[in-house]
Amino acid sequence: MNISKDSYIHWFRHSSPYIHQHRGKIAVIMLPGEFIEAPYLTNIINDIAVLASLGLKLVIVHGARSQIEAVLQAQEIDSNFHRDLRVTPHEHLEDILRAVGATRFALESAFSCGLPNSAMHGSRMRVRSGNFINAKPCGIIDGIDFQFTGEIRSVDSHGITRLLDDNNIVLISPVGYSLTGELFNVSFADVAVKVATAIDADKLITYNDDGQIRDADDHAYREMTLLQCKKFLVETQRHRQDNTYFSLQACHRACDGGVARAHIISAREDGAILKELYTRDGSGTMIYRDSYETIRRARIEDVTGIINLIAPLEDQGVLVKRSRERLENEIDCFTVMEKDNLIIGCAALYPLPDTQFAEVACVAIHPEYQGGGRARKLLTHLERHAARLGAHTLFLLTTQTAHWFIEQGFIETLVDALPVERQALYNYQRKSKVFTKRVVVRASTVDL
Ligand SMILES: CC(C)(COP(=O)(O)OP(=O)(O)OC[C@H]1O[C@@H](n2cnc3c(N)ncnc32)[C@H](O)[C@@H]1OP(=O)(O)O)[C@@H](O)C(=O)NCCC(=O)NCCS
Repeated sequence: MNISKDSYIHWFRHSSPYIHQHRGKIAVIMLPGEFIEAPYLTNIINDIAVLASLGLKLVIVHGARSQIEAVLQAQEIDSNFHRDLRVTPHEHLEDILRAVGATRFALESAFSCGLPNSAMHGSRMRVRSGNFINAKPCGIIDGIDFQFTGEIRSVDSHGITRLLDDNNIVLISPVGYSLTGELFNVSFADVAVKVATAIDADKLITYNDDGQIRDADDHAYREMTLLQCKKFLVETQRHRQDNTYFSLQACHRACDGGVARAHIISAREDGAILKELYTRDGSGTMIYRDSYETIRRARIEDVTGIINLIAPLEDQGVLVKRSRERLENEIDCFTVMEKDNLIIGCAALYPLPDTQFAEVACVAIHPEYQGGGRARKLLTHLERHAARLGAHTLFLLTTQTAHWFIEQGFIETLVDALPVERQALYNYQRKSKVFTKRVVVRASTVDL
C-alpha cells in the first residue's frame, strides 16, 4: 500500500483521540484456534503488538478446537459433543492437553518474533501464562458424563491484573486447574467471558470470519445494543456452528456481565482491530451495554430531567434561572446527554436571528459524571449543530466557568462584540464575562 506522507499524518492526528481514549484500558481478546494456524495470524499478532505499544492492557484467551480435532482425527478418534461442549474422556485428555499446549507455544513464539523487517521489531512483548482458571467437572448433564470437561469455578483476577500492571500480555489457555490437582478442558469462550468480567475489562474483542454482523436483509450493524444482540441471537439460532454466532454469544454474555463494550471483527481483514479501535468508522460490530450514553436533541418530556440537573446550579447562581415554561418553550434549543433514562448533561444553543452568531448556554453535567470529558463532547455536538444552522461564531456569558471555556478554545471579548440586540439584554449586575469562538467544522470530529 502506498500512503502519502500527508495522508499518513492526517490519519495519525485523527487517531490520537482514540489512542488517548484506549490507553490504560483493559481488553480481553478472544482468539479462536482456527485463526491461530491461518496465514493471517502474523497480521493479527502484529496488530496486537501495536495495541500493547499504544498502552492497552491485554489478555489473550486462545481456543484450540481445530488443533484438538486434528490431533484426535490423526488417531481416528471422533469426539462427542453435547450442548456445544466436547465430552472429554480420560483417554483423550493427554492428546487434548498436547494440542492446547502446542497452540499456546505457537502463540508465545509468534509474540517473540522481532526480525528487523517485521512490525514486531523492537516491540519486546512479554507474554505470561499461568494457572489463572480454577475449574471443577461439568458432571453429568442430560445423562451424559462430561468427564474431564470442566466448568470455571473462579478466576485469579488479582494475579492477572498484577501482570497487566507490570506491562505483560497475559495469555490464557482453555484449561482449568482443580483443587484436587486435575486438569480440565474448558470452553475458551467461557474463559474469555469469565476473565473479562472478573478483571472488570473495558472491552472484549472477538474474531470471526466475516467481520461486521449482517441480518437476513443484509443490513450491516456498526453498533448493537445488548437488546438487539439478544434478538439477533434468538433469530439466528439455526446457524449455531457459525463462529459469528459464538462470538456474538460471548459478546452478549460479557456485556450482560458488566463489560462496557464488546467488538466482533474479522480475522481475515488485515488491520481490522486497529481500524475498529482507532478510526471513527471502525471495521466490525460493537455491542454495548444499554447504559451507553447518548447525546440527542431534547424532547418536551426531558424538561423535568433538565430541571433536576440545573436547579441546584441556579440556586448557587452558576446558571441563570429558567422557569419550567421557559424551558418548555425553548426545549428545541437544548441538547441532552442521557444514560439509563437519566439526563446527566445538557447544553443549549440559541441562534440569533439574522446574524451568524449563536449563543451557548446552560452547559451542565451531573456532579457524579463530571471530569469525564462529557461537557467537551456536548460542546462539540453544539458546534456541529451551530455549523449546520449556518452560524460562524459561538458566544457565551459566564460568571464562574471562564477557565473551562478558555480550555475549550473560547476567547474573552467585550460585550460590544456581540450583536446589538444581544447587548441590549446583557445584565450588567451579573457582570458575566463574554467569550466567543469561531465555529470550525471538522469533518472527522471524533465521537468517543
Ligand atoms: C463545567 C462543567 C460543565 C464541566 O463538565 P465536565 O464534563 O466535568 O467537563 P470535562 O470533563 O470536559 O472537564 C473537566 C475539567 O474541567 C475543570 N472544571 C470544571 N469546572 C470548572 C470551572 N468552573 N472552571 C475551570 N475548570 C473547571 C475540572 O476541574 C476538570 O479539570 P481536570 O480535567 O484538569 O481535572 C461541569 O463542571 C458543570 O456542570 N459545572 C457547573 C455548571 C457550569 O458551570 N456551567 C457552565 C456555565 S454555562
